[in-house]
Amino acid sequence: MNVRKKVTVPDLAQWRESGRRISMITAYDVMFARIADEAGVDVILVGDSVGMVVQGHRNTIPVELSDMVYHTRNVARAGTAALVVGDLPFGSYQASPQQAVESSIELTKAGAECVKLEGGVHVANAIDAITRVDIPVIGHIGLTPQSYHRMGGHKVQGRVEGFEAGSRNRLLEDAYAVEQAGASAIVLEGIPYDLAGEITMKVGIPTIGIGAGNQCNGQVLVLHDVLGLSDSKLKFVKHYAGLRNASIDAIRQYVEEVGSGEWPDMEHSFK
Ligand code: KIV
Repeated sequence: MNVRKKVTVPDLAQWRESGRRISMITAYDVMFARIADEAGVDVILVGDSVGMVVQGHRNTIPVELSDMVYHTRNVARAGTAALVVGDLPFGSYQASPQQAVESSIELTKAGAECVKLEGGVHVANAIDAITRVDIPVIGHIGLTPQSYHRMGGHKVQGRVEGFEAGSRNRLLEDAYAVEQAGASAIVLEGIPYDLAGEITMKVGIPTIGIGAGNQCNGQVLVLHDVLGLSDSKLKFVKHYAGLRNASIDAIRQYVEEVGSGEWPDMEHSFK
């Protein structure tokens, strides 16, 4: 039984004030949501990274809102103490603030306790509209995977001065815009650690980094990377376990035992 106190959106702001760091991890189904929760994670992100990790796409662009509703529902059924954040996929909020509100309502009905969307200045209207119907929003700036084609791939952002999309000053503007629009927190992805530190100092909402150094108020990683189920070699990824090799070994042994007739033995057979 889970005895942890339920994590709520206001906790995030409080933890920023008190200096308690926030841990976030992705999950896409009930089993891993329960495992992450039992491990004590603060926030579970039902990320649109599901498109790459589970669906096998090379980026997150093909993910549909219906996919995110399905996975959010599955994670929500875990009944976690961790806060459940549902990711708005590409095309589900860019067309208009009304579309953003409607998509957020769908994710909320599926069990999301907060939604996340990508972008800065240009999505401020969407964030403002969603928060007006009392759905909390987490922003996401820097290496925003849904901007794959504009960035020319998954490329580190904020390395050049200027106000073009992805440049250093523009990312500061994006962070301010997200905060002013009413976001409860902001994910900083794939930016130099000193820029992430500057944004964290200058905005008044919690920052959660991924590939953004250790000066953020919290950190997020993709579950399959943390567990070593993926073989990602990205610089900002750490495999805390080696479940890919452990899984291959286990399944190989199963295949061998089926082949040899060793499986199933009497212990696992009915009389
Ligand atoms: O979709 C996702 O998993 C994300 C995180 C990597 C921040 O957006």
